[in-house]
Amino acid sequence: MGDLAKRKLLPGLFHLSMSKLTPAIRVVGTSLDDITTDDFRAAARKACLEFSSRSLTSEAVDEFLDSLTYVSQGDGPAALAEAVERASDTIGGSARVLHYLSVPPKAAMAVLEMLNEAGLVERSRVIMEKPFGTDLASAKKLNASIHRWFAEEQIFRIDHFLGKESAQNILAFRFANGLFEPIWNRNFINYIQIDVPEKLSLEGRAGFYESTGAFRDMVVTHLFQILAFVAMEPPTELAPGPISEEKNKVFRSMKPLNPHDVVRGQYIGYRDEPGVAPESETETFIALECGIDNWRWAGVPFYLRTGKCLAEGQRIISIGFREPPKSMFPQGSGVGQHGPDHLTFDLADVFKVSLSFYGKRPGPGMKLDKLSLQFGMGEHEHAGLVLEAYERLILDAMKGDRTLYTTAEGIERLWEVSAPLLADPPPVRSYSPWSWGPNAIHQLIAPHAWRLPFERSWRSKDRE
Ligand code: BG6
Repeated sequence: MGDLAKRKLLPGLFHLSMSKLTPAIRVVGTSLDDITTDDFRAAARKACLEFSSRSLTSEAVDEFLDSLTYVSQGDGPAALAEAVERASDTIGGSARVLHYLSVPPKAAMAVLEMLNEAGLVERSRVIMEKPFGTDLASAKKLNASIHRWFAEEQIFRIDHFLGKESAQNILAFRFANGLFEPIWNRNFINYIQIDVPEKLSLEGRAGFYESTGAFRDMVVTHLFQILAFVAMEPPTELAPGPISEEKNKVFRSMKPLNPHDVVRGQYIGYRDEPGVAPESETETFIALECGIDNWRWAGVPFYLRTGKCLAEGQRIISIGFREPPKSMFPQGSGVGQHGPDHLTFDLADVFKVSLSFYGKRPGPGMKLDKLSLQFGMGEHEHAGLVLEAYERLILDAMKGDRTLYTTAEGIERLWEVSAPLLADPPPVRSYSPWSWGPNAIHQLIAPHAWRLPFERSWRSKDRE
């Protein structure tokens, strides 16, 4: 069973079915593994117990396991079709089918072909995992081939960062309030950072990671999608068409990546990991500057960083505001000493937002300190109702709602923007595990500085 199925998909489906947010569901698992339904259920039980983030009972897990069956790919399309039919019969009526392709890009076509042979295309929807292709040519080819069998309305290209409650909070914060939108542009914003360091290393995923690397695994997917939420114009409606239209406009305005503005890194010890080539050039870290050449953002640098085996696991967006043109405060008062004012979004499962500003230190004279206004979603009375990203997106796909899904056009444009980097990647520089990446990251964004590690920690009750 794949890592994603274990960590997210099965615990997520378990929660969705227990919470009664979905109608009755049946899960038919299939992979190359030659295992039985009992083996599959045992693995699913283990996965739910280990990875479900909620309290659960053994009876509830058993109830869910009863809805699971397994067919090995080796048994062929007819066996899969039969298993799906049997599962639908137990629900009765005309059950809808949702395929979840949690497979690497190069395996996707074979699986879609099998679904077609099994007669499982009609009345179905298909969720495709990222990365969608590995470059522009392969993404285009994949899109063209899928359309041989599936109509565009049936295809759901998933990017789980868009399913995160906190990502949707970016939209709420920007577009439900009048306060920040007037200053959300190049006249007031100096730079933007989207920083997603991870402490995790390979977690046994060398097979996938070696041919993917940090750029394809995280940047061309998650970080660019988040960037679109931060940079897009207000959509006319919270609906798939208008949202995708605005996101795609951002992608169209993005400048092609310049390899000189990219730092690739590899943690020391990566090449000794099982399954990794001794001379591997795969990057486990990437930091880059990109730009959006439109009226709102021309000249504002966007700094993106992500990587494995780094000092902290964080998902931070920092909006750095321009500093005042002149200061009336005396020398040594502290103004400007702790960087500019920032609006910070923490995209952790419990969303947090903070606005930092200079304020007067209590007492005589005029000393200034950096202060902040903060809110943590943990304080919200409905905090417990948060859906995990995959749960939210699977539920949306079941309902046919693609607002939080990506589009072929957007994905292809992102590969196009990435082409100069993919064609001429800078060499990987090594970095010590649990550091913040190769030293060159500081030069990359000078005279600015990375927000992380934070000088001050969050004050909220649900500090992590
Ligand atoms: C996945 C990547 O899409 O996202 C992983 O393949 C990464 O390498 C993960 O660890 C991060 O997601 P999250 O939700 O844990 O921040």
